[in-house]
Amino acid sequence: MSMDRTETFSILGNEALRVSSVGLGCWPMAGITSVGVTDEHSLATIQAALDAGINFFDTAYAYGYEGQSDRILSHALRGRRDRVVLASKVGMFWDANKQRVYDGRPETLLKHAQEVLRRLDVEYVDLMYLHAVDPLVTIEKSAEAIAEIVRRGWARWAGVSNVDLDQARRFHTVCPVIAMQPPFNMLQQQSVSALRDFCREHTIGLVCYWVLMKGLLAGHLNRDHQFDPRDRRLSYEIFRGELWKRNQDFLDHLRAIAQRNDCTVSQLVVAWTLQQPVITVALCGAKRPEQIVETAAAMHLKLAPEIFQEIDQRISEYHKGTET
Ligand SMILES: NC(=O)c1ccc[n+]([C@@H]2O[C@H](COP(=O)([O-])OP(=O)(O)OC[C@H]3O[C@@H](n4cnc5c(N)ncnc54)[C@H](OP(=O)(O)O)[C@@H]3O)[C@@H](O)[C@H]2O)c1
Repeated sequence: MSMDRTETFSILGNEALRVSSVGLGCWPMAGITSVGVTDEHSLATIQAALDAGINFFDTAYAYGYEGQSDRILSHALRGRRDRVVLASKVGMFWDANKQRVYDGRPETLLKHAQEVLRRLDVEYVDLMYLHAVDPLVTIEKSAEAIAEIVRRGWARWAGVSNVDLDQARRFHTVCPVIAMQPPFNMLQQQSVSALRDFCREHTIGLVCYWVLMKGLLAGHLNRDHQFDPRDRRLSYEIFRGELWKRNQDFLDHLRAIAQRNDCTVSQLVVAWTLQQPVITVALCGAKRPEQIVETAAAMHLKLAPEIFQEIDQRISEYHKGTET
């Protein structure tokens, strides 16, 4: 493993929004799916991220039933607003029964954007995404509202998350974006494959989430890991049954590659991600400081071409094995 990758920052879009190539994903500090995360852990995690060279923080109106992620960020970043790039999202919230609601109506987007600023205690965020498309509202209407949020100075730039290529085109026509936020990891590449050419052509950054596959690809969950029954990851098939076994077989290959190259599995995974074409930022969630310290170190790693070949070979074998 070579350590000569010194460029740890990326530029989003044509604009001078300079962000660390690993961003801290603040979903785990919302406490909705993470078991055993406290405000003290989250504050320490944010500080560790800053110390590790991360300047890019990803939150959303819906990160917490009552804005927990914004509240913690606001506390942790007080007095250092000018040192960080804040990204948020509107278009999704939790109702009184704690059920997820998609709401892309312009009045809701504007209202929730204001609420985000209030919770974060800032005058603007650097980037505001539409979180997801509301099937009951045309995407152009939601795009107009995000453009209005930028016009009002509540966000410097616009972005959009969880869109397919057609939706990306339609959104960008009404509201030019500098970033899109799709899921992406070694085993789930479809969303990015669909958007990559469009983003390259329009100089739009790809800020990817689930790079660590909700912790699976961090490599610390062993084959015999006993999940806490409250851990909502159990609702995902990748953490259960045959798929769990297959994922652990894949991880064993990564563990061997990481060991040979003197890095950890999460560092291998994040470095591999950052060296994929057009991918600008890997968003990584963390519940504890040591997790983000480990992951952020991947910004400095450069993988040799033969490592890509070996990993690509393992990915293709994995997918052959899952075809029925
Ligand atoms: N736009 C969207 O719709 C959308 C959707 C999802 C996420 N996101 C964004 O993307 C971010 C990343 O997604 P995510 O947080 O759900 O998942 P993730 O980054 O794939 O995984 C995060 C989890 O992995 C484990 N982990 C991380 N680093 C580790 C390390 N070094 N060693 C061991 N375990 C480690 C931790 O869980 P354990 O310790 O419990 O194992 C952590 O909570 C989110 O926080 C959010 O900002 C956006």
